[in-house]
Amino acid sequence: MKAVILAAGKATRLRPVTLTMPKALVPVANKTLIGYAIDVLKGAGLTDIGIVVNDLESSIPQTLGKGEGLGVNLEYIVQAEQLGLAHAVGLCRPFVGDESFCVFLGDNIFQDKMQPLFKSFENSEIEAAIALGEVSDPTRYGIAELDGDCVARVVEKPKEPKSNLAIAGVYLFRPSIFDAISRIRPSWRNELEITDAIQTLINDGRQVCPYILKGWWIDAGKPDAIVLANQLVLEELPYTPAPEDKGRIIGRSEVSHRVLLGANSQVIDSVIRGPVIIGDNTIIRNSYVGPYTSLGDNVLVEGSEIEASIVMNNCIIRDIPGRIDSSLLADNAQVTAAQRMPATRRFILAENSYVQL
Ligand code: DAU
Repeated sequence: MKAVILAAGKATRLRPVTLTMPKALVPVANKTLIGYAIDVLKGAGLTDIGIVVNDLESSIPQTLGKGEGLGVNLEYIVQAEQLGLAHAVGLCRPFVGDESFCVFLGDNIFQDKMQPLFKSFENSEIEAAIALGEVSDPTRYGIAELDGDCVARVVEKPKEPKSNLAIAGVYLFRPSIFDAISRIRPSWRNELEITDAIQTLINDGRQVCPYILKGWWIDAGKPDAIVLANQLVLEELPYTPAPEDKGRIIGRSEVSHRVLLGANSQVIDSVIRGPVIIGDNTIIRNSYVGPYTSLGDNVLVEGSEIEASIVMNNCIIRDIPGRIDSSLLADNAQVTAAQRMPATRRFILAENSYVQL
């Protein structure tokens, strides 16, 4: 079975981070979101993967290449205009051919590795299977209503939801989905909805089955969701003893267990309480780095406190009073205190930036 990961889209809800990087490359515990999708697919034995991107110049093909480093074969499918999930899936027809296939949304991240779903589908008579997770705000998702072991109805972002079972971003289809896609019309948000194509299968009397997810699932479309995903993934870091390397843990430093320290990174006169992941060439001086924090490569944290946050590569955090919490800093961001009087606040912020003082 082949798989396609949908990673085109405008990602407006994650701006300004996504002004310069596609959502799929946003790091969670120092690994890209799309990296987690590839891991699930690989774990289920799906190694021929098509990735739907805006264009071939996107940093996704540039970063992942043909997938050699990841142990998978990657191909890219261009969706020049983001006309909806069903439109994106329709473009994958030449790639998937006459086989069953998996569709994985590139901005969804799961605790469940879903192997029973993949195993049971291939040799079954089921026409489609969809992963479902319970949510507290069903109006934000595609919602499924069940009838026994089958899906009876699916509705995209219903105003009056009849269930709290949301369609999570994993779908298994047969080639029959392409005919269903050719028969749907754009929705109220002017997108060709994959939910409508699934409803077409149901209306045709085909069997669509649910797979109820185990554990957490996050649609990481917004900054808060990315920060939460980072916490949930770091929570699963297995036990590792406190690093004791005197060349890198220097002065009056205290580093706990479950702290992963990258190559050439140093902790100087600082306290680090895991679970924490730190990339390469990062310096932490006179600072506190608290649980559920991911620091990327070439980061400097000096005279500051931070926890439950994501700091990407090449960032500087210096002499910040108070603790930084639940924050997301994209590559090259700097948060520093004024070095001279007057101690003014100064901001250079991209669209949709968010500062809380
Ligand atoms: O996250 C789960 C939800 O994902 C489901 O409950 C909904 O039924 C489903 O429609 C979808 O809703 P969203 O509004 O969250 O989808 P979004 O626009 O965020 O797109 C999901 C992914 O698909 C994202 O990685 C971008 C990619 N995409 C999106 C569109 C609209 C494409 O590759 N092409 C597209 O045209």
